[in-house]
Amino acid sequence: MKSQASPITNADEIRLALGIGQPHQRPTRGWTGGHPVVPIPDSHNESLTLFCTRCDIMTAGIYAKPTDTFRRCPACSSLLGLCLVCQRPVSFRERYNLLCCDRCHNDFVTQSTVDDLIRREAGSREIVLSGIRATGELHYGNYFGAMKQFVEFAKGDNLCLFFIADWHTLTTCREPEVVRPNTLRIAMAYLAMGLDPNRAIMYGQSSVPEIAELAMYLSMLQNHAPLISMQSVEDMITKSTENNPFTLGKLTYPVLMAADILGPKSTVVPVGPDQVVNVELAADLARKFNNRFRSVFTIPTHHISETTVPGLDGEKMGKSANNWVSLLDSEEGILRKYQRDGVTDLARITKNIPGTPANCKAVFPLHEILLADKPEELGKVVTECSTAARGCVDCKRELARNLFIELAPFRERWAKLSEKPDFVREVLHYGGLKAREIITPTVAEVRECMGIFPN
Ligand code: ADP
Ligand code: TRP
Repeated sequence: MKSQASPITNADEIRLALGIGQPHQRPTRGWTGGHPVVPIPDSHNESLTLFCTRCDIMTAGIYAKPTDTFRRCPACSSLLGLCLVCQRPVSFRERYNLLCCDRCHNDFVTQSTVDDLIRREAGSREIVLSGIRATGELHYGNYFGAMKQFVEFAKGDNLCLFFIADWHTLTTCREPEVVRPNTLRIAMAYLAMGLDPNRAIMYGQSSVPEIAELAMYLSMLQNHAPLISMQSVEDMITKSTENNPFTLGKLTYPVLMAADILGPKSTVVPVGPDQVVNVELAADLARKFNNRFRSVFTIPTHHISETTVPGLDGEKMGKSANNWVSLLDSEEGILRKYQRDGVTDLARITKNIPGTPANCKAVFPLHEILLADKPEELGKVVTECSTAARGCVDCKRELARNLFIELAPFRERWAKLSEKPDFVREVLHYGGLKAREIITPTVAEVRECMGIFPN
C-alpha cells in the first residue's frame, strides 16, 4: 500500500487524480471560452508536491481511503492535482461533477463527468427534454401544465434536460433588457420548483452553439412548403405587422426546435398540445436523416400534459391572453384578480341560485386540479355550490388560499434564490457544459454523415 503522505509525482497518477482521460480532457468555459488544451507532460518534476490553493498551503495530500486513487488536502479536503491550463499543482472545487481550478478558475469536463452522463444515459428509462421560452412571468398554467411534469420526470430514473429557449424568445421579443433577466427567472423557477441541478441538467439554449449548427444541417433536409403551411406559421403570417414582421427566424422556429430535441437524442418531450406538431416535425426530420444517411437520431415522442389550466376568463391561461395569475402573486393579489375577472357559472346571477360546477369557467376547474388527491374536499365544493350553500365569492376565496398554499415551497425557494443570482448563473453555466458534452457528439456524427470536415 502507498504511503499516506507521499505526494503524487507521476503524470498518470495525476491524470487519474483529476479523473481526466482521452479524449475529453478539454478545459472549457461554456461556449464563450475555448482555451487551448494544455497536455499534461508525460514526466514530472520528481519534487512536485501538491498545493492547496484554497488553504494556501503546500501539502503532500492524503488518501481518504486506502483504496482511493486521488489525493485531498488534509486541511479542507479539496481534490488536489495539476491544472491543465495554469499548469500548477492546485486544488479543485468539485461542482456538479465538474472540476474548477481554484487558481485560474477554469472548468474541466472530466472523464468522470462524461462517465457519469454515459452511466445515467445508459441506465435511464428515458431521455426527457423540454424548454420554456423566456418571454415573461410564469403563471399557474405553466406550473400545472408544464413544470410540475418536469419535476415528476426528474424524480424517476430519467436523464432530464430542461432548458431556457432564449434563441426562440428572440422570434417574438426584441428587447435584450427583457430576454436576459427572464432567462435567469426561468432558471430560478426551475430550481424553485424543486429541480435538483445535480440530477436534472438545466441550461440556456444559447450555451450550446452546436444546437444552432445542427439546426442549420437539418434545414438542408426540410422543404419550406410544409413549414409555410403549418397552422402556427400561418397564424404568424396573418398577424404580422410592420412592427411585428414575419421573419425568417419565425419560419425556421420548428427546425431550431427539432435541433433542441434531436441534439441530445431525446426520447420523450413533454409539451403542451400546441407544440405537438413541432415534435412531430422533429421526428420526421430524424427519420429523413436516418434514412438518407445512417441511423444517428432517436425518434422522439411527445408527452402531452393532461392538464389545461383555464385563465380568469375561462379560456386557456396564457401570457398573451392577459387572463393569467402569476406564480408570485400574493393571496390577496390572486383573490383580487378572481373577484374582479374570474368567470364562474354564468347562469348563477345571485348567490341563492344553485350553481353547476361543470359550467363554472375559471374557478371550479382549478379546484379540480388542486384537489385531485382530495376527493372529499372536492365533493364538498361540488355539494356546497350546487346547493347554494356557498357563493362564488367564498369559492374564489378558498381557491385563492389553496393556490397560494400550493406555491408556498416554490415562493420560499424563490426568495432564497433571489438573493443568490450567482448561484443560478452557475447552475446554468455547469448545465451548459454538460449539455454541450451530450450534444456535441451527435453534431459530430451529423457532420461526418454530411461530408463536413471534423472540428
Ligand atoms: P404562454 O402560453 O403563457 O406563452 P408558454 O407558451 O411559454 O406559455 O408555455 C410554456 C409551457 O407551459 C408549455 O409547455 C405550455 O404547454 C405550458 N402551458 C402554458 N399555458 C398553459 C395552460 N394554460 N395550461 C396548461 N399548460 C400550459
Ligand atoms: N416552442 C416551445 C414553446 O413555445 C419551447 C421550446 C423550444 C421547446 N424548444 C423546445 C419545448 C424543445 C420542447 C422541446 O413552449
